[in-house]
Amino acid sequence: MKNMRMDMLSRLEGRQPEMSLPREFYVDPDYFQIDLDEIWYREWLFAGHECEVAKHGSYFTLDVGAYSVIVTRARDGRIRALHNSCRHRGSRVCTAAKGTAARLVCPYHQWTYELDGRLMFARDMGPGFKTEQYGLKPVHCETVGGYVFICLADEAPDFETFRAAALPYMAPHHLGRTKVACETTIIEKGNWKLVWENNRECYHCSANHPELCRTFPERPTLTGIDGADSDPEIQAHWQRCEAAGLPSRFEISGDGQYRTMRVPLLRDTTSFTLTGKPAVRRPLGGIATERIGSMLLYHYPTTWNHLLGDHATTFRVLPLGPKETQVTTKWLVHEEAVEGGDYDVTELTHVWNQTNDQDRRIVEENQRGINSPAYEPGPYAPDHESGVVQFVDWYCNALAPRLKGSG
Ligand code: FES
Repeated sequence: MKNMRMDMLSRLEGRQPEMSLPREFYVDPDYFQIDLDEIWYREWLFAGHECEVAKHGSYFTLDVGAYSVIVTRARDGRIRALHNSCRHRGSRVCTAAKGTAARLVCPYHQWTYELDGRLMFARDMGPGFKTEQYGLKPVHCETVGGYVFICLADEAPDFETFRAAALPYMAPHHLGRTKVACETTIIEKGNWKLVWENNRECYHCSANHPELCRTFPERPTLTGIDGADSDPEIQAHWQRCEAAGLPSRFEISGDGQYRTMRVPLLRDTTSFTLTGKPAVRRPLGGIATERIGSMLLYHYPTTWNHLLGDHATTFRVLPLGPKETQVTTKWLVHEEAVEGGDYDVTELTHVWNQTNDQDRRIVEENQRGINSPAYEPGPYAPDHESGVVQFVDWYCNALAPRLKGSG
């Protein structure tokens, strides 16, 4: 693996800027393992939402590479993340994707853990056995604006700077007081970076996303990282939203890992529906203003989000293999919104269900083409694909020092 790390570093250092990456980054199992070790096992990752663990004893699980993680709300009300690996002989303790439990009981020999991970009971382990030495191992866990983030590293990077930057944009949507109206998980047979590259541009939108393009503008000033400040329509949108108390301006972190911006939707549309009208009659939280567009929140490598006035659509990316990625989409609505009365699930989810499937096909064709030895890196379009360039630069800049052992 050491040689592979050097191989990867030399390709990173030799890559052409503003061109897609060499083939190995998208197909090679050793490169994928390095992505896991140096990106996925080190960064803060979006796991799920606070409302999914609304009561103590509720939990959900997720797999990140080789790790299985439980996110649960303990009796003290705090949300915690725990390694889902029993301290007896290592069985997964929670086998379901989600559930509720008074305590976490390993299905193998019934070692029983408190919701905060402390081992409470282990049958017939002898007089010298000390339960306090065998709690489930903790995973770093933070919450912000209704989102739960985890970090698998021994020492987690700073989270507070992201919290301070993103929370003002997220808070007006009161996502802590929502429920998941619908959730889908799809598998895209493509490398996780291709999923992101596709997401970070709308160069492909007009030819591929007829439903989304009814409401979401494909202008590069919205999807890219340049030009929003000189786009009069965006300027007017920001002024109107900020006058209503909604932070809106484009902000990006120094290292490019996360960004926020409130973008206008087309004409007088307000939501991602075929009509452009709200999908949910009961607006989110404190959103009293109409036509606030979408608050775009990106946090690499796990999540992009659309926070609207009537609902939020959130996306979680998890890598399954060098050519396989899981994308989970959740539609959050006001916690008191009533299905069948305030919203219709089919109407709420239609546009993004279609868009997700269209993106899946695009990513899979992209992967198939890159699998060919004839593939070579190609140039990104300067305006339309500046967001892709930014994502790829973030990835390369995060990885290179770590491969050198200095990051
Ligand atoms: Fe969990 Fe034995 S492996 S109780």
